[in-house]
Amino acid sequence: MISINPFAVLAESVPSVLIQGFVIVMVSLVIIGTLVDIIHKKNIKYFFNNAKKAKLSATRELGASERISIIAKTVVYDIATTAELGAGKRRVAHVLGMWGTILFWAASVIMIFCYTSGDAATPTLWPIMWHIGAIMTCVGGYWFWLFLRVDVLAEAHPWYRIIKADLFVLALLACATFGLVWSYTQSLNLENRWDDKVFLTLYIVSNLILFGGVYWSKFAHMFYKPGAALQKNLAEADGSRDNLPPLADEPKQFGLGIKREQPKHY
Ligand code: HEM
Repeated sequence: MISINPFAVLAESVPSVLIQGFVIVMVSLVIIGTLVDIIHKKNIKYFFNNAKKAKLSATRELGASERISIIAKTVVYDIATTAELGAGKRRVAHVLGMWGTILFWAASVIMIFCYTSGDAATPTLWPIMWHIGAIMTCVGGYWFWLFLRVDVLAEAHPWYRIIKADLFVLALLACATFGLVWSYTQSLNLENRWDDKVFLTLYIVSNLILFGGVYWSKFAHMFYKPGAALQKNLAEADGSRDNLPPLADEPKQFGLGIKREQPKHY
């Protein structure tokens, strides 16, 4: 199963142009959902106004090479390793889920657009990446959703309590889980049995919810967060500090109370 391109098998019974069209519709849904979100929240407008205002309080001008080095560091460290989550489980779970999803999506696009039409055999690398990506998404995502979610970890709500904020993580998990089960049931060559068709339908529906729900879910954080990390690091380097006051030049004395319990009340 792990070395079989599930989309190539599907293309034996469904025209590949239909599968490719589905991907294009999903990408369009992400673009539309994000644009509507930007218009509704006015967050990009706020972001640029704030950056313009902060620029006025900059204490030094950044040269091109310094700017490039800050951007490179932000991409490699802050964005690729989700540095803002600090050290610990939360960051490991997120890195697993984020990179798993990137592998899963990249391999899907390559397998669908390059290896579902014509006779070209899929190099085993892509199906392996697709399956490993889905497994990583499940490990990071279920770990986060069952144990690390703030309302479960800090507010003692049961793990099965579902709220609107869970739309993104649950749709993402549904895609990865149903994708894996569909690939498995399809690889069993069940011929006219129903199993693989049911899981294919669930996989399609979860993709529609994930990509169609961008406006209502946390999906767009994957675009906003990198922008915010870049702005923060550039603002620190040019001294504008996003119009925040400078750090106090005093020892950090918070009293012994701060050591009584791990911070987990967000
Ligand atoms: C393909 C890219 C990404 C995927 C699939 C992804 C996935 C997720 C998921 C499933 C959650 C949990 C959402 C929830 O609260 O219900 C999450 C939260 C979060 N993400 Fe991402 N993310 C991506 C990119 C990024 C990037 C680039 C950053 C930062 C640079 C980032 C920072 C965060 C933060 C800070 C949280 C809150 C985590 C927590 O509460 O423990 N994410 N992400």
